[in-house]
Amino acid sequence: MKSNISSHQLSMFDSNPADLNSSDGIECAVADSIESAIAAIHEGTAIYTSAPEIEKLLDLLTWPACGGRLHDPACGDGNMLVAALERLKPAPGDFQEAQRIHGIEFHHESVLDARQRCAAVLENHGWDQTEAFACAEALVIQRDFLLDEIDQTWDVILANPPYWRRARLPGSYRDAFDEVTPHHARGDLLNAYLDKMPAVLAEGGQMALVTSDRWLANAGTGRLREALGDRFCVSHVERLDTASAFHRPKKREKDTPPRVHAVGMILSNEGRAIDASPFIVDEIPEVDGIPLEEIVTIRLAPWLGPDGIFLLDRPDAIPGAKTVPCVMPRGIDSETGEIGKPVRWAIVTGDEPPPPSVARHLEREMARMPKRGRREATPWIPPERFDKHLPLAEDAILIPRIATSLRPIRLPAGRLPVNHSLVLISGMSWEDVSTMLSHPLVQAQADALAPRVESGYRSYTATLLRQLIIPHEAIPVALKKAA
Ligand SMILES: C[S@@+](CC[C@H](N)C(=O)[O-])C[C@H]1O[C@@H](n2cnc3c(N)ncnc32)[C@H](O)[C@@H]1O
Repeated sequence: MKSNISSHQLSMFDSNPADLNSSDGIECAVADSIESAIAAIHEGTAIYTSAPEIEKLLDLLTWPACGGRLHDPACGDGNMLVAALERLKPAPGDFQEAQRIHGIEFHHESVLDARQRCAAVLENHGWDQTEAFACAEALVIQRDFLLDEIDQTWDVILANPPYWRRARLPGSYRDAFDEVTPHHARGDLLNAYLDKMPAVLAEGGQMALVTSDRWLANAGTGRLREALGDRFCVSHVERLDTASAFHRPKKREKDTPPRVHAVGMILSNEGRAIDASPFIVDEIPEVDGIPLEEIVTIRLAPWLGPDGIFLLDRPDAIPGAKTVPCVMPRGIDSETGEIGKPVRWAIVTGDEPPPPSVARHLEREMARMPKRGRREATPWIPPERFDKHLPLAEDAILIPRIATSLRPIRLPAGRLPVNHSLVLISGMSWEDVSTMLSHPLVQAQADALAPRVESGYRSYTATLLRQLIIPHEAIPVALKKAA
């Protein structure tokens, strides 16, 4: 297998030649190591884009009428290049026109596949076979887009950049990756691509991307968004159906859809601004109404530390202790939303020191409490105090943070919700809150705002709930009258 090893890649192995006894040996070992790292990354990232998604992006770019040169910096077996070339239809022998298309790929076999496919397109358009192959060699080159220096620029980038967490990179590759990738872009190959692609895009150029939506919403990628936002706006973004938008190379057996939430998007100099704050992909419906947080109280359920300190598995485990039954996230049936029988009881303590039996228990167990949960002067008070306002005397509403939809669950009076994965809404009857949250416009806002996590689940935080606007028609009559 051929290798295209950059000087950068060679230098990263220089520090470890002890067990190699000739310079040929070093080169072979380096080649093997690089080849296996590339093979592993290719195996993990070769999730190819389906034709309709590529055509849609080419339409949005108005390729080839938009002019200029188009580049795919992670071209795989050439899906995107082939589609762009098919539209370009360069006349036989017109190398200059054909070379408006260009691709980079670091996996040797895929480079050969991509060249073969581009040559076939040219031949179909009447090119002589030898010229078609010579041209295809120039269209697709074997390089590492991230580690190698790329000294050209293009007017359009069309890409489905690899998506692979830094922690999963083979160690040798990771060292080289860290050396050339700025800190804010190191979390994933995708982030590094998003950071580097603008450098090879001519002023005023456009980027058409198929990517996971994670970098748009995650708190950790704010700096990356900010850097992109200095130059680009989002002129188009839409969610893609992951099951149909991608496919694996034919020879692969595994064919499960990738576990990402993908978007197709165009970054150019017009459209929605992008900055360090999370970028909301879905349109949030405009609602004429009142913010939920002005109508009810929204708070996180308290965190009381690990089991066995403030949380007991029996109400009478400590004689003399005052306890309340808890509701934990795992005690809620994810299908029905029903709250099961209590399996934990929280010790209730207040301003005054507790009975000696409780003090002794807490002293014995407190070593297991993380630092952030300890109170040196008043060790009997839990990490997040609840005794003055919880449990509630009336039924209230719980929202599990990780769920498939925004679902209000009835919290019976006298039960204490525990854990930051539960958001508590109080100050109005269960029926009224439930009616407000079930309104389609409220559900649509929640769907747009809630970041997608895995397997169809989304994250409904207290911050999100505070942003919801309740339409006037869903506000309880009694409240309207009072207003
Ligand atoms: C998601 S596939 C996209 C292929 C093609 N553009 C498509 O959409 O069908 C990503 C490709 O990037 C390649 N790749 C990953 N890291 C790379 C790097 N640093 N330099 C060049 N190619 C890389 C992988 O081998 C893989 O073929």
